[in-house]
Formats: sequence, structure tokens, C-alpha cells
Amino acid sequence: MDNIIIFDTTLRDGEQSPGASLDIGEKLQIARQLALLNVDVIEAGFPIASPGDFQSVSNIAKEIRGVSIAALARAMEKDIDSAAKALEKAEKPRIHIFLATSEIHRKYKLLKAKDEIINLAVKAVAYARKFVEDIEFSSEDASRTEMDFLAQVVESVIAAGATTVNIPDTVGYAVPEHYASIITGLKEKVKNISKAVLSVHCHNDLGLAVANSLAAVKAGAKQVECTMNGLGERAGNAALEEVVMAIKTRQDYYRCSTRIKTRELTNSSRLVSVLTGMRVQRNKAIVGENAFAHQSGVHQDGVLKERTTYEIMHPEDIGLQKTKIVLGKLSGRHAFKERIKELGYDLTEIEFEKAFEEFKRLADKKKEIFDEEIEAIIDTEKMEIPH
Ligand code: KIV
Ligand code: ZN
Repeated sequence: MDNIIIFDTTLRDGEQSPGASLDIGEKLQIARQLALLNVDVIEAGFPIASPGDFQSVSNIAKEIRGVSIAALARAMEKDIDSAAKALEKAEKPRIHIFLATSEIHRKYKLLKAKDEIINLAVKAVAYARKFVEDIEFSSEDASRTEMDFLAQVVESVIAAGATTVNIPDTVGYAVPEHYASIITGLKEKVKNISKAVLSVHCHNDLGLAVANSLAAVKAGAKQVECTMNGLGERAGNAALEEVVMAIKTRQDYYRCSTRIKTRELTNSSRLVSVLTGMRVQRNKAIVGENAFAHQSGVHQDGVLKERTTYEIMHPEDIGLQKTKIVLGKLSGRHAFKERIKELGYDLTEIEFEKAFEEFKRLADKKKEIFDEEIEAIIDTEKMEIPH
């Protein structure tokens, strides 16, 4: 089964989240955790952007082994020089060049014609090849680029030496079927496409980044670019934990896997959240506090009898100890009895019924009932029932 390459860009695109800046030490800490998570590529930063970013890429390149380290560059020699220098000590360096190709960007941002864009892209890739073998080219705003022109750009940069071609949905404009058709179209139209890895990079402006990435995988993309907790510019990038767990959980459908050590997902998510100060919403898929918590009595009863009734993933697989049963007003006797057992009590039938009644009364006044409160209920009830 094919392994999809997981390219993590938490330290580059993720850091572009407004309010999520990281210092050099914090970036190194995250890079170490990403290595434990076993991502294939860490995009460590954009060295020309600031001396701090340069230093951070350079530190990560020096220390992290066994993972490709990518540095971003515009299609300009000074950017490529800076990226190459920052990557000097990397075991597996990758220079990642980007250049916008859509009509909107050509007309308003770059003021360049199509042939000038191709020339710039080809020259940049050929120049970067003087420093490293592993070159990624990103056609910025690819999803709004005319299909024939996109195919021409992709074919030209592969001929110039790009080893990965990335098709960003820079502004989160794509929808799954449309995005998948771009991947299929490139596979049909680009003669030398098999010489490079076809990669996808999706933004979440319409909440479709993960869906688009997965549709592209189904259509034949071999690398997915993503970030922990879905951090990133504006509404963020595709969330790594969601892409990875969707591929793992629905291997029957995607027929591929990743090398990610999924048990490190919770640690990775928490570290990124603490260091960036960007809290993970409770109901966030995979790593949110509620993702493995059951609240309704019917669900709790089902999960306690057989967890696959309401769980499609094992909490242990993402590094959690177990499913969380939240005791509240919707909980039934089954869940309450289990918790009492876990807390070490052995109640008679009468004691249990009294405690359950008291628990329900309290639960009407509060969102969640904690273990200490259950202990207090039982201790009081036991004292009141004559033995
Ligand atoms: O969204 C985008 O187009 C990017 C590129 C630099 C890859 O982040
Ligand atoms: Zn991006």
C-alpha cells in the first residue's frame, strides 16, 4: 500500500495564523515533536523573511535527522540563496519555490504575462538545483489558474528539475470534486508528471481544506501539506490530524496509509496549542476535548457495552488513555454505575438508587458532574442509610 507523504507546514504556513508567532526555541521544540510524530517533511520557515526565521530554519536543519527539512523561497535568486544557506547542515534539504500562476495574480500582483511566469519558474528551479536535488515548486493560486496553463507550468518546472509539484488552493476556493478534477487533469495533460511527486496544499476558507485534500488523494495526489490543529493563514490549512486519521480510519476507501505515529497526535496538538497560544476548540475533530467524550445516556450505554457502537477510532490510537464518559443530566444508570465502580465503591441496591437520585438532582443544576462530587454524594448517602 502506498504511503502518502505528510508535509507539515505548522512552522511556516501555520505561523502565518494571525496571533500565532513562535520564537526560535519554540520552533525547535515543535520540530522535535514533529520528528517524533514521524512526518516526512518539516517546512521549517521562510529564511529570507527575517533573521529569526533564517536562524530557526538553520537550527532545525542542523539538529533534526531522518526528516526532510524544507525552506520556502520566492522565485528569486536572493530567496533561493538564503534558503540554501539556511539548509546547509540539513541531512535532507528541500528548497520550496513558489510563484503565482492565476490570471488574477498575474494581472494585479505580478504584472507578468504567461510566458514570463514560465521563464521565471523554470529559471528559479534550475538555479535551486545547483544547491540541492530535492526541489518543490508551488504554483500559487493553482486552483484559480487556467487548466492548460497550469499544466504547462507543471510540465516546464518538472523538465527544469522540480521533484515535487504542489497545487495550492491558496485562497480556499476549491470544492472537492473541482479540486480532484485538477489533479486528474494534470495526470492526463502533463507528459512528464510521473517524474515528480504531485502534492496538494489546501486552505480552509470554506471549511473544505481536509475534504479537498482527501479528494485529491483519492484522485492520485501523493503528498499532502497540512498543519497541526489546522493552523494557518486566515481560516487555516488542512489539519494534519484530520487528514491522517481519515486515511487511517478509511483505509478501505483511500487504499493508502501514512507513516505518522498517530499516538503522538495528542502530544503534538497540545504542544502547538500551548506554544502558539491558539486554543483548540472543544469539538475539534480528533484532538478537541470532546472528540472522544460521550454525553448522552444512550451513547454512554452503547459505548460501555461495545465501544464501536459510537466510536470509529480508538482514543489510544491518538495517544489518549481512554474514552471519556461525561456524567451529566443525560447520563443513565449504566454510566453512573461504571463510574462508581471505577472510584472503588461497592454499593447495595438501595444505596445506589439513593445516590443516583441525588446525582440526577445535582446534574439538573450543572453541566458536568465531577468525580469529587460523586464521592461526596455517596459518602453522604451512605452515612444517611442505616446498615
Ligand atoms: O497557500 C499557498 O499558496 C502557499 C504557498 C507558499 C505554497 O502557502
Ligand atoms: Zn498556504
